[in-house]
Amino acid sequence: MNREKEIFIDLKERSYKIEIKRGLLEEIGKKIKKIKEYNKIVIITDENVGKFYLDRLTKTLREENFLVYDIIIPAGEKSKNLYEAEKVYNDLALYKITRGDLIITLGGGVVGDLGGFVASTFLRGIDFIQVPTSLLSQIDSSIGGKVAVDLPSGKNMVGSFYQPKGVFIDPELLKTLPTRYLHDGLGETIKCGLIRDKKLFELFENIKGDSEVLERAEEIIFGCCMVKKVMVENDEFDRGDRMILNFGHTIGHSIEKNYNYETYTHGECVSIGMCEITKISEKLGLTPKGTADRIKILLEKFSLPTTTTLSKEKILEGISSDKKNFGNKINLIILKDIGNGEIFKIDSKDLEKYIV
Ligand code: GLY
Repeated sequence: MNREKEIFIDLKERSYKIEIKRGLLEEIGKKIKKIKEYNKIVIITDENVGKFYLDRLTKTLREENFLVYDIIIPAGEKSKNLYEAEKVYNDLALYKITRGDLIITLGGGVVGDLGGFVASTFLRGIDFIQVPTSLLSQIDSSIGGKVAVDLPSGKNMVGSFYQPKGVFIDPELLKTLPTRYLHDGLGETIKCGLIRDKKLFELFENIKGDSEVLERAEEIIFGCCMVKKVMVENDEFDRGDRMILNFGHTIGHSIEKNYNYETYTHGECVSIGMCEITKISEKLGLTPKGTADRIKILLEKFSLPTTTTLSKEKILEGISSDKKNFGNKINLIILKDIGNGEIFKIDSKDLEKYIV
């Protein structure tokens, strides 16, 4: 069975293709040749991912006669900062990278966000291609052009919208992903089902466990990328419906921040956030009764946390510093039903009434 899939992200002159195929890593040299005759290519990766895949990616690029360099950053969210970005800029300058060259980000969300941010700013912008290696980056962060670094005051505080020239997704790479990070990605994949694709949500309800997730990875990644495609095409700059992708994130980000981004992964916090906000929206009569329980059962099947012991005050404190708030309005994302997320605007001063 040919399970290879392609999705076209239609953003006029910023359009690109997402390709999903097992074994795609080995074909990237040929694929890039068809996009443009670049001269030099710089691969940005981290120590963990580099160990597994850097040699294989370098080989396919050299086979097509590209001049290949690499920059390896320390693994983990702590690298997503301006200091690390500056080190990368200096290496790019050392390799005499010009606007006619290309950056490839090989890794998870940290590498993609940092590498994309560097690509968007070095020489005022050079082309980049995403090769995401974690489930979270394959279904979310590599698509849609959000690139950023963190500041001590918060995550993704400095960044831009800068679309890649292509996204190459090889589901085989998920086999080396530690189980906790597979589940981390599942938090966001389940979110995609919840906000826009009931069948995708039901697919997860019927899936037996991790091995079936890996077996059906193309179908799952494709489903999530299609949800993201529609959101990004309709609202590239995140001023309207794209915010629905933030379902579970208002409370989730607050929990992440309260634990200093250390105790929980992003997907784990989103998992808690989706359950908590749905309990609230059920109480308000905005979501059918029983939805929160149905979500909880599914998330727990993949060992994801669904409640927090943080106090209401701590949660509120974290929410009020979130950059996604606009002035005195907060956009809460709620479910009208499974497969149908929507924006529910409230006044910041009323937040306390909702977060119980
Ligand atoms: N990760 C949410 C977005 O791309 O808008």
